Amino acid sequence: MTDTSSTRRTVRVELGDRSYDILIGPGLIAAAGSEIAARLKGRRIAIVTDAHVGPVYLDPFMRSLADKGIEAVSLVLPAGEKTKSFEHLMTVCDSVLGARIERNDAVVALGGGVIGDLTGFAAGIVRRGSRFIQVPTSLLAQVDSSVGGKTGINSRHGKNLIGVFHQPDLVLADTDVLDTLSPREFRAGYAEVAKYGLIDKPDFFAWLEKNWKDIFSGGAARIEAIATSCQAKADVVAADERENGLRALLNLGHTFGHALEAATEYDSRRLVHGEGVAIGMVLAHQFSARMNLASPDAARRVEAHLKDVGLPVSMREIPGELPPAERLMDAIAQDKKVKSGKLTFILTRGIGQSFVADDVPASEVLSFLKDKYLR
Ligand SMILES: NC(=O)c1ccc[n+]([C@@H]2O[C@H](COP(=O)([O-])OP(=O)(O)OC[C@H]3O[C@@H](n4cnc5c(N)ncnc54)[C@H](O)[C@@H]3O)[C@@H](O)[C@H]2O)c1
Ligand SMILES: [Zn+2]
Repeated sequence: MTDTSSTRRTVRVELGDRSYDILIGPGLIAAAGSEIAARLKGRRIAIVTDAHVGPVYLDPFMRSLADKGIEAVSLVLPAGEKTKSFEHLMTVCDSVLGARIERNDAVVALGGGVIGDLTGFAAGIVRRGSRFIQVPTSLLAQVDSSVGGKTGINSRHGKNLIGVFHQPDLVLADTDVLDTLSPREFRAGYAEVAKYGLIDKPDFFAWLEKNWKDIFSGGAARIEAIATSCQAKADVVAADERENGLRALLNLGHTFGHALEAATEYDSRRLVHGEGVAIGMVLAHQFSARMNLASPDAARRVEAHLKDVGLPVSMREIPGELPPAERLMDAIAQDKKVKSGKLTFILTRGIGQSFVADDVPASEVLSFLKDKYLR
């Protein structure tokens, strides 16, 4: 359900009494005060941001709140994945409590997925659940991490292993702020946009092939692409909030992608998440062709489009040496999408025809990876 009456779009996430709106469009940081005041009973807000986003957007955001009589305190944390830790969780919880945020007040995440996941987790546990507003500032956060209510931090045992489901009360996705995002981070977020087309929206994928330049340069297509992506994720989340079935499709490209992230030791100089997903989606399509599920043309089309936008499409493009295929296979087997020893993969019958395959023989995957290493 989208509102086409202006450049701003609204996507509603339907979750019964926990339903909420995602507002998407330009100027939403400046309009935050009125949007929040219209929905929030309380008049106090604790904002969490990071050292890249804070210096640029904290002032205009706080001014917009002050204009509507909302009092705000802010906490600026270091930027980067390492911030999703127990240590920083404690800092956020203490700061929210110190700001005397009560039930009708709210905790706000102003930043990318790292700040969103950490702050959402804190909001989910402080006073057994506080109101939470997401102001996602990276493309990945706008189309993926801010939608669906998954929150959490990393453990030394792996990423995102500690957390809770905690839905936000409102999401404000200001599409202008993406102009200050690095081109590499923008492309990485775009991989997730393309993913929604490849899951079950072949027309959207074809539209992306035609309109991606406008998305990157900030035209009307950017708002349209983000709204379509949020709607796609919202639909899946509404049908399967806690990832029992359908939601697994959102992991298209992620089993290979996560293994590559682990193989590069989460070193963002070598690979960021969206790049791993881009390579992973190409691999998933190639593997589907190898298993005679899909035509090789689909894989070629995916590869060509992701390459056009500047994303890596093969393991060879990852700088530095990768571990042997067997080690990559171990990482795949350790991935959380493995149930009772069988490999669960998201495979495809063609563009926009993905499905959950939960009986994929590990030996086939290994020989496929070995082939890929040779070529
Ligand atoms: N909860 C979920 O459902 C979900 C889904 C996908 C990913 N995630 C999580 O999201 C995280 C990745 O998110 P991310 O890619 O946004 O990473 P991030 O938060 O680290 O942001 C990427 C970089 O861009 C900077 N940045 C963000 N917005 C900016 C802006 N407007 N201008 C300039 N710089 C800006 C950040 O400071 C950071 O350096 C991972 O921790 C991942 O696990 C969560
Ligand atoms: Zn992802």
